[in-house]
Amino acid sequence: MAEEAILGYLENHEEIADSGEFAATRGIDHNDVVNVIKSLHGFRYIEAQDIKREAWVLTDEGKKYTAEGSPEVQLFLAVPPEGSISKDELQKMFDPSVFKIGCSQAGKNKWVEMGKQVSRKVQHVEDKVKDLLLRIQDGQAIDKDGINALKARKLIVSQTWKGYSLRKGPNYAPKRKKVATDLTRENLQRGDWKELEFKEYNFNAKGQPAEAGHLHPLLKVRKQLKDIFLQMGFEEMPTNNFVESSFWNFDALFQPQQHPARDSHDTFFLKAPSTTRTLPEDYVERVKCVHESGGYGSRGYGYEWKREEANKNLLRTHTTAVSSRMLYVLAQKPFAPKKYFSIDRVFRNEAVDRTHLAEFHQIEGLVCDRGLTLGDLIGVLHDFFSRLGMSKLRFKPAYNPYTEPSMEIFSYHEGLGKWVEIGNSGMFRPEMLLPMGLPEDVRVIAWGLSLERPTMILYGIDNIRDLFGHKVDLDLIKRNPVCRIGIN
Ligand code: PHE
Repeated sequence: MAEEAILGYLENHEEIADSGEFAATRGIDHNDVVNVIKSLHGFRYIEAQDIKREAWVLTDEGKKYTAEGSPEVQLFLAVPPEGSISKDELQKMFDPSVFKIGCSQAGKNKWVEMGKQVSRKVQHVEDKVKDLLLRIQDGQAIDKDGINALKARKLIVSQTWKGYSLRKGPNYAPKRKKVATDLTRENLQRGDWKELEFKEYNFNAKGQPAEAGHLHPLLKVRKQLKDIFLQMGFEEMPTNNFVESSFWNFDALFQPQQHPARDSHDTFFLKAPSTTRTLPEDYVERVKCVHESGGYGSRGYGYEWKREEANKNLLRTHTTAVSSRMLYVLAQKPFAPKKYFSIDRVFRNEAVDRTHLAEFHQIEGLVCDRGLTLGDLIGVLHDFFSRLGMSKLRFKPAYNPYTEPSMEIFSYHEGLGKWVEIGNSGMFRPEMLLPMGLPEDVRVIAWGLSLERPTMILYGIDNIRDLFGHKVDLDLIKRNPVCRIGIN
């Protein structure tokens, strides 16, 4: 419709001076006209010149009054023609802002007498404000005073309006010709390709978005972290077993068998196979001893350690289970210092909410060498986290059954303007290391954190269910940018 109107008009007229007026007088939406202009211009049916002008448009408040009437008229109409109404009663009939504006404008216009009681001073009023707003909405001109009054009440704002003036172009025709888009075999056989007019290539047209694989944010951040560990000279530990025995997950870590984390509320135990088949027997014996009666300068926990409890299979609750296996293996050979890391999935029987899932990924690093101190741990943590863009760190004393001392790690988050907890760390206890057979002066410093937390901060995701699990929006995965590490 817009296309016929434009081409038809230009057949008998020099120009269309203003696409806005042209659209308005024919009752066509200007946006439709603009689209047609762009297309006709592309095929050079018409020449188009930009025109811009300042136009007044209604604010939301202005739009509201075109429907409901101005507040002063609404208020006036609520005052009875004879007698009066109490101000309190009147107030109850309106939104606070309508009431306030209504009172002040109706008072200013000398329409009503305002006191404890409100009464009319005139019997008839006109809603000039509403009329002016309606005229602006229709694109009609109104005088300067009207504009100023509406502008002062923030009922209208000025906006740049863009349109076109149009003339015939070099390819002008009163009707658009059908152009061929493909050269077919039939065209060639019939020979009609000689007469056919072909559509020109549009080199500005966007092509189909290329389909390709996309990396999940967790994978990207995991890769970045892995690179950091590798740059720092760490080796990756094998984490390819989600199922672990309680022994390696808890007992080897000097976590007593009554510890609440070993409850089925916090841990997923396996029904089948419910128990492990093999454990290194002599080491199991030393672990039993250290739990029951201590040794290596420790008093132990003084309870009766049960093998059945240690045999129970579970989904590992932390990757520290992997660390304990690796340290045990290390202890069976002549000692050599090691730096190990792992990043993999762990499972906890937790209530699911915005920040918790029953499974997540843990990042763990450890350094094993003679004579390491807490100072070494703090130094390594500064090195590690500053590579993640977190250079302001603070530590808080904490408790883990397998580390002493233990420290929670906090980082200052510039965006949030506060300290946020980012991980947990400590020095593995002698009760854990010595039964394995590690030399007495060997110390192990270690830390752990979740992969989800930094990923959510980096990608601005505030609900973990949007990041992981069956509710993830695949578009988010496709759209998210290539990861840049640097949390602050
Ligand atoms: N395993 C700890 C956790 O689950 C993290 C940790 C690892 C703490 C190593 C200290 C040392 O939170």
